[in-house]
Amino acid sequence: MSKSPNATQNIQRRRAVPLVLILAFIAVPVIAAAQEIKPATEAAAVARPNIVIIGTGGTIAGAGASSVNTGDYDSAKVAVDKIIAAVPEMKQVANVRGEQIFQIGSESFNDERLLKLAKRVSELVKQPDVDAVMITHGTDTIEETSYFLNLTLKTEKPVVIVGAMRPGTALSADGPLNLYNAAIVAASEEARGKGVLVVMNDEIHSARDVTKSNALKVETFKSLYGPLGVVVESKPYFYRLPSRPHTTATEFDIDQINGPLPEVDVFYAHASMNPKMLDAIAGLGPKALIYVGSGNGSVADYMEEPLKQVSAKGIVVVRATRTGSGLVVRNGEEKDDENGWIVTADQNAQKARMLVSLALTKTQDPKAIEAMLYKY
Ligand code: DGL
Repeated sequence: MSKSPNATQNIQRRRAVPLVLILAFIAVPVIAAAQEIKPATEAAAVARPNIVIIGTGGTIAGAGASSVNTGDYDSAKVAVDKIIAAVPEMKQVANVRGEQIFQIGSESFNDERLLKLAKRVSELVKQPDVDAVMITHGTDTIEETSYFLNLTLKTEKPVVIVGAMRPGTALSADGPLNLYNAAIVAASEEARGKGVLVVMNDEIHSARDVTKSNALKVETFKSLYGPLGVVVESKPYFYRLPSRPHTTATEFDIDQINGPLPEVDVFYAHASMNPKMLDAIAGLGPKALIYVGSGNGSVADYMEEPLKQVSAKGIVVVRATRTGSGLVVRNGEEKDDENGWIVTADQNAQKARMLVSLALTKTQDPKAIEAMLYKY
């Protein structure tokens, strides 16, 4: 009796089941063995971004005599490779390598060092095997270095600056987590194209706005309009975008800037000033002077004529405010048109100094410089 088509299919299925099982028994161990041969770390490394961490010194590289020294310590002591080695968790985030460019307190940054750092970052971001750059930096002048890089680097790749308020030897040192969080941000896709970022105390700040607001606290970094985002449990969360042009959208290019930057000096106003100070500064021949006035950049009645004389000498006089925030109003309380002065927008004196110095590499026209202060 011939078998019905259904019976034939059933026999074929019964034969097929053991065949599938045999194949599975052979294939599963072979696939598993293949996965074992390739070390897990190597497999994952392919997917991780490559980050270069440039060490410049600061408290993040600091060491105190004892664990209770949180404010009394030497900064710029520990090599960047050691700082990286102290945070092995970063290996899960990125392939990191260190490069020591300086070992200094950031108060010692000058044009020469700033340009050297900026040019090195510029070289690194051009390398196809570098996905992001981090910079360990003293906190004192992070706001200036970061603003300068934000204005002059031509890259969309993340550039993240990080520091610490307590040395690595202190109880509750903040450096290791700051470094880890900075790596999380630098490795993230979301950080691309947002300009230079500063990561401290679980917050992500735009270089344009960030300023150091306290001499000791770990929550010292503040942005006038709030941070761009936060880092929580190894994830960056961005909530805002920088609105001012930066990096690829500016007219300044670090590769085109050589030699010392045009000199811009700062005069800080206070009660009972000595007008001769202004003459003395003018005598040094700066290209511009930031006059950090009280309130809305106010100029004392007895300082008006000496300040007018400064601009008459061809030095660009820029009125700023010592209050720490707020726009300085042109021709508001002061006769800017008449006296030949210009105003900052909302930048503090140290940021205005940096931008005015860059602006002077392009133009000597005070009005054009003021336009850049409003733009950037
Ligand atoms: N002098 C400081 C500097 O390098 C140490 C302060 C810090 O890094 O927090 O900026």
